[in-house]
Amino acid sequence: MAKLALMGGPKAVTLDRLKFKRPAVSEEAIAAVVALMRKGETSVSPAINAFERNFAQYIGTEHALAVSSGTAALHTGLYAAGIGPGDEVIVASYTYPSTAGLITTVGGTAIFCESDLDTHNLDPADIARKITPRTRGIMVCHLWGNPCDMGPILELARPRGITVIEDCSHAHGAVWHGTKVGAVGDIGCFSCQGSKLIGAGEGGIVTTSSRTLYERSILLGRVENRAEFREDPFCPPYSFTGVGIKYRPHPLGIAIAHDHLRHLDELNEIRDRQGAILEAALADIPAIVPQRVLPGCRRVYAYQFMRYDPSRLGGVSSDTFLRALAAEGIGAGRTGYGRLHGQALFTHGFPYSPGRTTYGVLGVALPDYANGPLPVTEDLRDNVFYGAPRFEMDCRELIDQYVDGYHKVAAAVDELLAYDRQQAAKQQAAPTDGLSVHLLDAPARRAGG
Ligand SMILES: Cc1ncc(COP(=O)(O)O)c(C=O)c1O
Repeated sequence: MAKLALMGGPKAVTLDRLKFKRPAVSEEAIAAVVALMRKGETSVSPAINAFERNFAQYIGTEHALAVSSGTAALHTGLYAAGIGPGDEVIVASYTYPSTAGLITTVGGTAIFCESDLDTHNLDPADIARKITPRTRGIMVCHLWGNPCDMGPILELARPRGITVIEDCSHAHGAVWHGTKVGAVGDIGCFSCQGSKLIGAGEGGIVTTSSRTLYERSILLGRVENRAEFREDPFCPPYSFTGVGIKYRPHPLGIAIAHDHLRHLDELNEIRDRQGAILEAALADIPAIVPQRVLPGCRRVYAYQFMRYDPSRLGGVSSDTFLRALAAEGIGAGRTGYGRLHGQALFTHGFPYSPGRTTYGVLGVALPDYANGPLPVTEDLRDNVFYGAPRFEMDCRELIDQYVDGYHKVAAAVDELLAYDRQQAAKQQAAPTDGLSVHLLDAPARRAGG
């Protein structure tokens, strides 16, 4: 085996992965954007309604409402679900910050729940432990494109009248037991930010089959659609004012997202095929554990995150393992997820003006189970890494280089342990400020949006 790149040897990945990327905006999307500009439809436009209709049809819900971001979609979901002061919402700490953070904006309390080591998604057994009479919502996130264990989650939620909000920002086209995610719970929230499988540049979309949830979603940020207030008596008194928030998406971005929707299935097939090839080729490295896909589910490869298990590689530290991969050109980094529990936003509540937080003003007591302990989440935080780029075209040659790089690193246990010892000695001589972790985090944060 060649010398590790970490020790000055040649890199395993030499092909330029950018050559295997598709342009983010196709010629058809550019033409659609130009056509809208020529018509002067740069704000309110039927193009938005057409996207909503086709998206709802694709996901299999009665309604879809486009908004200005995934964050706006999640806010819309929480508002429509009627989450408010004193309500508890169960959520993972191992997720994108706004998924949990938005709970505080509506006055709710985020109750952090464990994630599952193999699926990386919320652990239904811990949800069961954390449900109380105050639980009004469960926010699941189908992380990296992998559907959550929705069966037990729905079984817990349905009899208690708990609303299930799905964050599908990584999972456009993923399927749970024959139903697309976004149509499984009560309300689906998708980011269509530029790095996502459907990208409007900035944008998002909410899906639901409930008329009430749809009308309340319109009320929050799309009140120009007030003509849709037909069944829910709560909305009409606010028809003129809305609630002071506007989340209208930009039609030019939506035109790009619509083009991505048209090609989603075809591209998901390609990405899935490449992702599966890489995982199969790494199956003989026990220290690398791919995300477990539950039976009856189809994941999509929005991101290929895997877990490193140090106990299966002689105890080589996660930092050293990731450094060695990065040196080979694999660009492996961590996500930044798994650090939400214990943050001020959740221990104090939403700071709606400086110094005045929801919990302080409303006198909400934070339950002592709200912030952990969460040992599995912390394991994921430390050991899950971004293992490969999104492969958007058949690129066996490039994948083979990745596979060689992984094998090269996994075979070099003695060198890696020696490197670990060297680093530990250096640290003892001059303690660091944790910079190494930041460096490792950086590429994946970009990748994970
Ligand atoms: C899982 C998840 N949820 C929500 C969001 C928020 O979406 P947006 O950036 O469109 O506001 C993101 C964005 O990256 C995300 O990855």
